[in-house]
Amino acid sequence: MGIEFLEEGRQFHLYNDDISYVFHVMRNGQLGNLYFGKRIATNRDYTDREEHSYRPVSAYTYDHEYSFSLGDLRQEYPAYGTGDFRDPAVEIKQENGSTVTNFTYQKHRIFAGKPRLDGLPATYVENNDEAMTLEVTLHDDVIAADMVLTYTIYANRNVIARNVRFINHGKQPLHITKAMSLALDLPDSNYDWLQFSGAWARERQPKARHLQQGIQAIGSTRGASSHMQNPFVILKRPNTTEDLGTAIGLTFVYSGNFRIQAEVDTYDVTRLTVGIHPQNFDWKLNPGAVFQTPEALITFSHTGLNGLSQTNHALLRERLVRGKWRDRNRPVLINNWEATYFDFDEDKLVQIAKKARDCGIELFVLDDGWFSTRNGETSGLGDWWANRDRLPNGIKGLATRVKKLGMKFGLWFEPEMVNKDSELYRNHPDWIIQTPHRHPSHGRQQYVLDFSRPEVVDAIYTMMAKILADADIDYIKWDMNRNITEVYSAAYPADQQGEIFHRYILGVYSLYERLINRFPDILFESCASGGGRFDAGMLYYAPQAWTSDCSDAAERVKIQYGTSYGYPLSSMGAHVSITPNHQLNRSTPLKTRGDIAFFGGGFGYELDLNKLTPAEQKAVNAQIRFAKQSREIINHGIFYRLQDPFTHNIATWMVVSPDKRHALVEVYKMLNDVNAPFHLTYLRGLDSKAQYHVTEEEGQDCGLHGGDELMNAGLITTDEQAGQVATEDIKGDFSSRLFILDAK
Ligand code: DGJ
Repeated sequence: MGIEFLEEGRQFHLYNDDISYVFHVMRNGQLGNLYFGKRIATNRDYTDREEHSYRPVSAYTYDHEYSFSLGDLRQEYPAYGTGDFRDPAVEIKQENGSTVTNFTYQKHRIFAGKPRLDGLPATYVENNDEAMTLEVTLHDDVIAADMVLTYTIYANRNVIARNVRFINHGKQPLHITKAMSLALDLPDSNYDWLQFSGAWARERQPKARHLQQGIQAIGSTRGASSHMQNPFVILKRPNTTEDLGTAIGLTFVYSGNFRIQAEVDTYDVTRLTVGIHPQNFDWKLNPGAVFQTPEALITFSHTGLNGLSQTNHALLRERLVRGKWRDRNRPVLINNWEATYFDFDEDKLVQIAKKARDCGIELFVLDDGWFSTRNGETSGLGDWWANRDRLPNGIKGLATRVKKLGMKFGLWFEPEMVNKDSELYRNHPDWIIQTPHRHPSHGRQQYVLDFSRPEVVDAIYTMMAKILADADIDYIKWDMNRNITEVYSAAYPADQQGEIFHRYILGVYSLYERLINRFPDILFESCASGGGRFDAGMLYYAPQAWTSDCSDAAERVKIQYGTSYGYPLSSMGAHVSITPNHQLNRSTPLKTRGDIAFFGGGFGYELDLNKLTPAEQKAVNAQIRFAKQSREIINHGIFYRLQDPFTHNIATWMVVSPDKRHALVEVYKMLNDVNAPFHLTYLRGLDSKAQYHVTEEEGQDCGLHGGDELMNAGLITTDEQAGQVATEDIKGDFSSRLFILDAK
């Protein structure tokens, strides 16, 4: 790994054994991109890759010549208004109304390691030899402002991390109305764009389209990354598969409004931009002030989509997630939400916890409804003290009883919200986000607290910290159930209203940071009506997230499969719930529900185990034993998607331990098929020289097979009943088989 600067041509080359990223200072002092992809040689001048062809109707920088047009050059961080008519990375409005800027190279700094970003989530290093960083400072004389582009390359990860910082050295305030975290101009447009979109309860379903001239973009202007779009996109070559070919991943380490965009210009250059969504964004940069963008990551793979995902998984798991729970396996939990909703008291909860403890569950989580007057959706949010009618001994009393059972105790909060029917709202009606003289919309009868105001964050922190200091709490589920409307903050002047969305999310991050610092042992799980804020930003604070409010196994196959493109298994909360399923009234076998949920690092149950039949209880006991045995490989193994559930009746995936000694293979069949064909599953990532003993979860012995055989000839996964006449024992729809491989 290294960062090379060649004086002649003023060329920067960031490289490790696998990838190269090359750009240079162009003739006009701005930066131009030369290459991003598989490693190419260092100590070579690539500046002749900058193309200067005459193009009709282009605008040219230098008088009397037709060789240098910003509209035709591949740039590093482009601005609008001086010949480049494509969508820019930066836009700054000045006192005289102009938005034209010209940031030119001043100096650069190359150093070992990677600096942290103040107040923002970001990937990090533990030792400076893990990565190198380049900071390039550019300056605009007319507005007396600096722009610092930062690039980090990791030694053993195929990732470039980028961010941008603006500093106002002048006397006039500036308004930054667009500041992307990265821009990357690629030389062609022969890519399929793969986004992960959906809705509440069906998050992160892959959707692909080939890039075309014009703009294709996804984003969120909801104040959260959202269920609908996710701040992670892949660009792959049309012939790239899960295992072969090149792909580029774009990950935004941020949880608020975002946009990821590809603009294909008239000469097939593709401009990628990732950053805070410009809609409603207007940051006033006073003289002397600094604005820091969030971090964006560019991942490169020449080993297909699985290779890209594996790079992202390892990076997010090892160098984005922090704290005690980063490397630890998570406790098997029971959550009372789908078991009780708002209908519980202390004894009922303890009954659920006791039964769960008897089954081997390690953590009891009390969900919504434990506080103030919260008996339903309309009241109580904002008043973070125990409802003494339900919990006469408070949270401390309940936690003590749960602890006496030998379990850990977890608690639900929704810190960012308030109901109008609450003491907090009655005392501080001006603390919600609302626009003067306009009716504030509600979502689930609740309003968003103005987290752009430090005093609001302080008040919530004080209430939460009191409970956490008083009772012994091991886990927090941090929920967030509505998006921001009528955005406006009473605490800021008119010319700073464009800052509120970003300041809000900075407030959320600051509350997380304070709680993490004071209570470092707590395991946080983020949640936003399921997966409405499942993003890399959140993972910096909460190592796992509730993947979706849909707990139906057949839907979860798709949601978890889609999520796995960008995010590690360790980040996914996955629970077994009862059937018929509460979201779509579907019945799936208990085995399938367990098998699918095993593939989330936050495995648990969302039901009252007291209500299971003896046979179901036996099965649940076995599931819990298996979850504990398998969580090491789930959390630290290498994951491979084998066959997708979107275009196939049978979906398959597997995870292999880093030493290749063990593997788990999931084969899920949506609809049963009569007299079904033979079926083979071609495995990946095994040691081709090893012999593996293959068993099924229920203990059936499937014999001894070579790694080479399993990867090339395939694992036989034909259902044993195929071709038989239907009987009651024959598996029906939504069936699952889980194979366990252990090297001899
Ligand atoms: C939405 C979450 O996603 C659910 O799991 C549950 O916690 C409810 N909120 C509680 O209101």
